[in-house]
Amino acid sequence: MPNNEFGDFQTPLTLARAVVATLPPRDYRKVLEPTCGTGSFLAAAAELGVPQRIGVEIQPAHAELARAHGDIREQCVFGLDLGADLPWVAGGELLVLGNPPWVTMADLTRFGSANVPVKANTRNRPGMAARTGESNFDVAEYIWQKLLGELRAHRPTIALLCKTQVARNILGHCAEQEIPVEAATLRLIDSHRWFGANVDAGLLTLRLGDTPGEYTCALYDSLDAATPSRHFGLVRGKLVADVEAYDRTAEADGACQLEWRQGVKHDATAVMELTGPAPIEDEHLYPLLKSSDLVHGNTTTARRRLVLPQRSLGEDTAALAGTAPKLWRYLLAHAEALDNRRSAIYRARPRFSVFGIGEYTFAPYKVAISGMYKKVEFRLVAPIGDRPVLLDDTCYFLSCADLAEAAVLTALLRGRTTATLLSALVFWDAKRPITKKLLQRIDLATLLGTAGHRALAEAAAKLTIDLPEQVSPAAARRAIKALTARWRALSR
Ligand SMILES: C[S@@+](CC[C@H](N)C(=O)[O-])C[C@H]1O[C@@H](n2cnc3c(N)ncnc32)[C@H](O)[C@@H]1O
Repeated sequence: MPNNEFGDFQTPLTLARAVVATLPPRDYRKVLEPTCGTGSFLAAAAELGVPQRIGVEIQPAHAELARAHGDIREQCVFGLDLGADLPWVAGGELLVLGNPPWVTMADLTRFGSANVPVKANTRNRPGMAARTGESNFDVAEYIWQKLLGELRAHRPTIALLCKTQVARNILGHCAEQEIPVEAATLRLIDSHRWFGANVDAGLLTLRLGDTPGEYTCALYDSLDAATPSRHFGLVRGKLVADVEAYDRTAEADGACQLEWRQGVKHDATAVMELTGPAPIEDEHLYPLLKSSDLVHGNTTTARRRLVLPQRSLGEDTAALAGTAPKLWRYLLAHAEALDNRRSAIYRARPRFSVFGIGEYTFAPYKVAISGMYKKVEFRLVAPIGDRPVLLDDTCYFLSCADLAEAAVLTALLRGRTTATLLSALVFWDAKRPITKKLLQRIDLATLLGTAGHRALAEAAAKLTIDLPEQVSPAAARRAIKALTARWRALSR
C-alpha cells in the first residue's frame, strides 16, 4: 500500500465491477462513495444503472476525474454529516460503495498529517475516542463507524473493501451499538494482486434492516465463491472465528486451571544463546528450545544453550564474580552488548538481568507451544542431559513436576476437542494469533472431564516413547485421576 496520508490507492474498475457483482440484488436508487478518488465504484454503479451517484473526495485532481461518474463533493469526508448534508433527490434503496484509506492513526502521526478524524467527530463518544486514539486504529474503521452512525436511518447496504481486522472490529462495533445488521458477508480479496499490499483484506458488506441482528458474518474465500467457508462473529458477546466450531466446544472456553508462562527474555541472542562450547560454569548453562524447535518437533536434543546469570527475577548478579568467575568474565567481556539492550525493562535492574524467570523456569517437564508461528503444535518437553530445558520468550508453556502429568496435559492439548476450540477462537490473519490470553482461556478441567480417559492415557504414554524415561498407560491413567481430583477440589 502507498505510504501516504490519504491512503491513496485507486481501485481498478475491474475490481469495482467484481465488487458490484457480489451485491445482493436490490433496486438501488442512489449510491454514495465516500473518499471516492477517481470514482471507480461510481462508474461500476453507473453500469449497474443506479441513477443518483454522489462521491466525496479531498484531492482536487481525483475529484475532477470522478466527476465523469457522478456528483462529486470536493471536501473532507470528516466534515460532512452523511445522513443530513447530501442532496438526494430520490427515495429508494441506498447503496454505499468504496475503498476507504487503509492507513492507521500511527501512520498519520508519522506523516504529521492533518487528515486525522478524531477530535471534531468523537465528541460525546468517549468509547470511540479511546478506540480512535489507538495507534493501530484504521481510518477505514472510523469511516465505517461514521457511515453506520449517520446513515442507519436510511437502512443502506454498505459494501467497502477493508482489512479483515477492520471488518471484525466493525462487527463488534455493530453489536455494541445494536446497529440493526440484517445480513453480513466478508469476501476475501487478494490484496497483493490488486494493491501490492501484504495485508489480509476483503469486501465487507452489511445490509441494515429494522431489528438488531445476530452479528455473525458469512466468510467467503473469494469475491466470487458460491458458498461461505465458515461464519465468524459474536456468540454470547464473544468474538469467535468459527461459530459452528464454537457451538461444539464453547463449554471448554473458560479459565485455565494452570498458568501459561512465557520463556526467558534476554534481548541478546548473540551473547546469551550459545551453539558451541563456552568457558562458563555448567550450572549457568541450560538447554534452550526456540519456537522453530517446537514447531518442527525438535525437542529431544537442543542445538543451543542459554547462559543464565540469574535464577529468580531481580536476583543480584554482583555475587557471580565470586560464585561463578568464568561466567562473570564472560558477561564482562560482552558487557557492551548487554548494557546497551534497548528495552527499558533492563534499566534500574541488576547488571546482566534476564526476564521471564521463576520457579516455573526450572520445572523438569513442560508443555510448550510457539507464539510466533501460525500453527497449533503443543509439545511435551523433558530434561535433556539431566538439565531442565528452557524456552525463549517467543514460546508459552505450562510447567509440571511430573512426567505423567505433563504427558496427559500434552495429549489433552493435542486432542481433537482442543483443536476444534482453537479453530473456533483463533483468527489466523492476526499478527500473533497464539497469545497467552488465548491459551489462558482453555479450560483444561472441562476438556479432561469430556475426554475419553483410556484413549487419552494411551496418547499420553505414546508421547514419551522417545524420551529417556517413559510413562505407561496405567501411570497416565493415575495422572488423569489425580488431575481430575485436584481440579474438582479447586472448583468447590
Ligand atoms: C484507497 S483510496 C480509494 C479511492 C477510491 N475509493 C477507489 O476505490 O478507487 C482512498 C481515497 O480517499 C481519499 N481521502 C483520504 N482522506 C480523505 C478525506 N479525509 N476526505 C475525503 N477523501 C479522502 C484519498 O484522496 C483517496 O482518493
